[in-house]
Amino acid sequence: MIRSWLFVPADSERKLAKGGESGADALILDLEDSVAASRRPVARGMVVDYLAAHAGTARRPQVWVRINPLDGEGLTDAAAVVRAAPDGLVVPKVNGPDELLRLSHWLDALEARDGLPAGGVKLLSVATETAAAVLRLSEYARVAVPRLAALTWGAEDLPAALGASTNQDPAGGYALTYRLARSACLLAAVAANVQPIDTLEVDFRDDAALRAACADGRKQGFTGKIAIHPAQVAAINEGFRPTAEEVAHARRVVAAFAANPGIGTVGLDGKMIDMPHLRQAQRVLAADAAFQA
Ligand code: COA
Ligand code: MG
Repeated sequence: MIRSWLFVPADSERKLAKGGESGADALILDLEDSVAASRRPVARGMVVDYLAAHAGTARRPQVWVRINPLDGEGLTDAAAVVRAAPDGLVVPKVNGPDELLRLSHWLDALEARDGLPAGGVKLLSVATETAAAVLRLSEYARVAVPRLAALTWGAEDLPAALGASTNQDPAGGYALTYRLARSACLLAAVAANVQPIDTLEVDFRDDAALRAACADGRKQGFTGKIAIHPAQVAAINEGFRPTAEEVAHARRVVAAFAANPGIGTVGLDGKMIDMPHLRQAQRVLAADAAFQA
């Protein structure tokens, strides 16, 4: 489970160095919007060098690469970096899972070219950056994309695509369009059996707001979150693992069912609990165990 995904502009030597020390579960070396088009060839070379210097199967943090859109320089980026065996590619401006299928076939060829294990390079889809993308999110429930590991959503590129001047409602929260995109992304990821990853917080100095956003994201079902600054990593790592209270409660739920074998519903603290509660408790304990390892 990858909780914290830290974006690092791939053409910045300093940030590449800082990113490695940040404690993030995964770095996303960015070749898209945080790199000027004229710097892309240099940035591709820096990604390859970084991966070569941090090679190995138990690499920590994982190293992912955000390529450009597939109707832009995405294939050029993929062809340049796959040879250095990144853990995965982050794909922006995806309109639907058929586009990822096409990319997955290209990756089959690139992995064969480079003598890499077939299917080793995973995919994270930035799945809500165009209007069509949001309307087509339900397709992830029926189109199986090999390599797909996670879906995330964004509230920065969609307004630009819509010609909207803001992503906020008058009260200062996200407007309905972006809340819809967020919920549909969560549902699509769960339906596709991949990690739902919550979007970034642009105000990287506001630790309290970040912690509140992490708590809300995890309660809704997200299992990780995007970071854009190393200062955001610790809050995300803590925010996306179960708290001690949650683990204690989950143990009591599991114990209550274990003490009543063959019974589908039991009372705990004066409340009915049944199978969905047991499943959720087991999920909490599994997540907790994974983070102990
Ligand atoms: N990854 C790694 N290191 C980072 C970093 C990041 N995303 N953001 C900041 N740092 C480093 C800085 O280089 C600086 O280290 P230094 O003093 O050794 O140079 C240190 O952390 C403190 O940085 P700070 O001064 O607080 O931020 P900044 O003003 O330099 O940078 C941003 C602000 C937003 C430009 C920067 O955080 C950034 O580039 N974020 C990622 C942007 C991105 O990738 N966007 C695409 C996805 S939406
Ligand atoms: Mg963007």
